[in-house]
Amino acid sequence: MNILITGGAGFAASNFIRQILKKYPNYQVINLDKLTYAGNLNNLKDIEGNANYKFLKGDIADKRITDKVLRNENIDVIINYAAETHVDRSILDPDAFVRTDVIGIYNLLEGVKEFKVKKYIQISTDEVFGSIKEGKFKEDSPFKPNSPYSASKASGDLLCRSYIKTYNLPIIITHSCNFYGPYQYPEKLIPLFITNLIENKKVPLYGDGQNVREWIYVLDHCNAIDFLLHKGELGEVYNIGSGVEKKNIEITKLILNELGASEDMIEPVKDRAGHDFRYAVDHTKLKKLGWQAEHNFDDAMRDTIRWYQNNDWWWKPIKSGEYLEYYKKQYK
Ligand code: TYD
Repeated sequence: MNILITGGAGFAASNFIRQILKKYPNYQVINLDKLTYAGNLNNLKDIEGNANYKFLKGDIADKRITDKVLRNENIDVIINYAAETHVDRSILDPDAFVRTDVIGIYNLLEGVKEFKVKKYIQISTDEVFGSIKEGKFKEDSPFKPNSPYSASKASGDLLCRSYIKTYNLPIIITHSCNFYGPYQYPEKLIPLFITNLIENKKVPLYGDGQNVREWIYVLDHCNAIDFLLHKGELGEVYNIGSGVEKKNIEITKLILNELGASEDMIEPVKDRAGHDFRYAVDHTKLKKLGWQAEHNFDDAMRDTIRWYQNNDWWWKPIKSGEYLEYYKKQYK
């Protein structure tokens, strides 16, 4: 099977590629990545020489590129991980979000149609549903995105839906809760706070820290996508969740505690504009099909913290250059 992973040099996708190559020695993985600020070939350094792996540099927002890859590589399956994902960046500059998360999806879907790709899996987020005070989002909950990021993802997902209904294309849409784990770009809450504290810098907690997210360990998310690749029903939508909900302040205290830092290291900062209060997904549908998350939150968080402690070769170079420019804009 030839699998095209778009955005393969990103956090979740690179973990997925590593897992797939190990588990299925007869699969060919083609990674198409534009290598934006968050795409990092260091995420895949250990599999660079793998005979079943090929890296192609390119942008899914350029149809000449997506068509060329699909024409040349005899692709059976596309798993679309490529996305601009950081809410705060989308508030500062939505342009790249519309290009990658909307136009990029359109190009891939047209490619699925033209080159008769057998399966397309859309990696998306629970943020498309907006914020929920109580209860959980179901697969058919209405889309109420609140940030340019989630609105772009919702638009891409709606295109997927329309290509299922209109052209009967073999598409599966997934909405996942928040990920954490090794190789996550240190702009997101967990890796930002861990790496800041390792560097003895304060952690910028938005608002009162009471916002709630549901958290899944990245390797559990990889397992869910692997499961859907083989057992998911075409044309269906699946929520991917863990049932683990945490307030930001709880996560912050856990990280402070693990790293032996005091609460003085919390820097209360202005709240994010349009900050969603809570996300939580009902993943009963996926459970009924036979999948569930296996990692325990506290253990996986400890492993994650250890990983950042042991791999500063990976994140230290990131925390300069473009990264500092972004933070200058963010906190100007
Ligand atoms: P984030 O990791 O950006 O994921 P998302 O907004 O997509 O859920 O943020 C997770 C939560 O942490 C969110 O409620 C915002 C909060 N947060 C902070 O308090 N400080 C920060 O510096 C960041 C990046 C996030």
